[in-house]
Amino acid sequence: MTTFIAGGTGFIGRRLVPLLAERGEEVVCMDINPQTADFAGLGKQVKVVKGDVGQFDDVMAAMTAAKPQRVINLAYWLGSEHPPRVAFKLNVLGMDNVFEAARLAGCARVAYASSLAVSGEQKFYGDRMVTEDDFRHGHVQYAMHKIFNEWQAQDYRDKHGMEITAIRPANVTGPDKIVGSVDHVFCITSPARGKPVKFPYKDAMRCPIHVDEIAEIFARVIMTDKPQHAVYNTGGQAISLGELADIVRGFLPNADIRFDKETGGRALSGNYLIDNTRLVSEFGMQFRPYRERVLQIINDIRMQEGLTQIAAR
Ligand SMILES: NC(=O)c1ccc[n+]([C@@H]2O[C@H](COP(=O)([O-])OP(=O)(O)OC[C@H]3O[C@@H](n4cnc5c(N)ncnc54)[C@H](O)[C@@H]3O)[C@@H](O)[C@H]2O)c1
Repeated sequence: MTTFIAGGTGFIGRRLVPLLAERGEEVVCMDINPQTADFAGLGKQVKVVKGDVGQFDDVMAAMTAAKPQRVINLAYWLGSEHPPRVAFKLNVLGMDNVFEAARLAGCARVAYASSLAVSGEQKFYGDRMVTEDDFRHGHVQYAMHKIFNEWQAQDYRDKHGMEITAIRPANVTGPDKIVGSVDHVFCITSPARGKPVKFPYKDAMRCPIHVDEIAEIFARVIMTDKPQHAVYNTGGQAISLGELADIVRGFLPNADIRFDKETGGRALSGNYLIDNTRLVSEFGMQFRPYRERVLQIINDIRMQEGLTQIAAR
């Protein structure tokens, strides 16, 4: 069977494609930057074509040629600083282009990335876990577009009987992450390179999850024809930047991580208490201890920099 992935050469897509190939899928990636991933080792099983998700003709032509049984959309502008029309075209129109092209190509099974950002700040919920059924308090550009994507997906489900699934990743982390929330990434990667790093608040909260785990979640969800739900939180490890800095210092005692202020960040933090019971119970996801993921990222960076590996301790 064939899986079509829009935005498949990005941070998450680069890890997802090999997981689908391992499961026997043919994969066709359509990306505006096709050169940012190297799938040569996967041979003819993976094809990469250049195309713009914001252009319906590109999506329709690529999907018609691929004839997929499954479709995933990962193409998006992360962040909320983009000009309104530019962001709308990729995030809102682009998402609909993927849904509509899948429909017209006769492919009812679609998954796409929503985000924890739909919930907005943790303060809206108090000190409790947030579930998929909670009201979505997100209010910035990125959050509003994801909220609309979820609404639109439900409309396609209701009116066209499509099996469209939203996955809401938390703060995805990995050595090559450069867009979206990056403070929790730089808290690991800068010291791993021997560079100092500074953040405004020690008590700022994040909910990181390693990109390998996100890729595995997408693979399990898309390979399931009829998941029990339309929306899944991935969850992650609720942690303050100060606590994360302590983990990093446990591996790199000379890490130079500083904070302007001890407190004041928690109240501003995005949703970090996230209930992922649905995903864990239905798809059997098990997450490696976050400390191990921190060491993995440190050693990925040190390998790139030609530095010695740090042993687990
Ligand atoms: N990384 C995170 O922390 C995080 C957290 C929550 C949700 N998500 C969501 O996961 C998805 C993937 O994120 P990522 O981290 O892999 O991002 P990424 O930016 O690394 O990947 C996105 C891919 O889309 C491609 N793309 C951009 N514009 C395009 C266009 N017009 N046409 C075709 N392709 C285009 C990019 O070239 C890139 O390869 C996004 O929807 C993002 O909102 C990510």
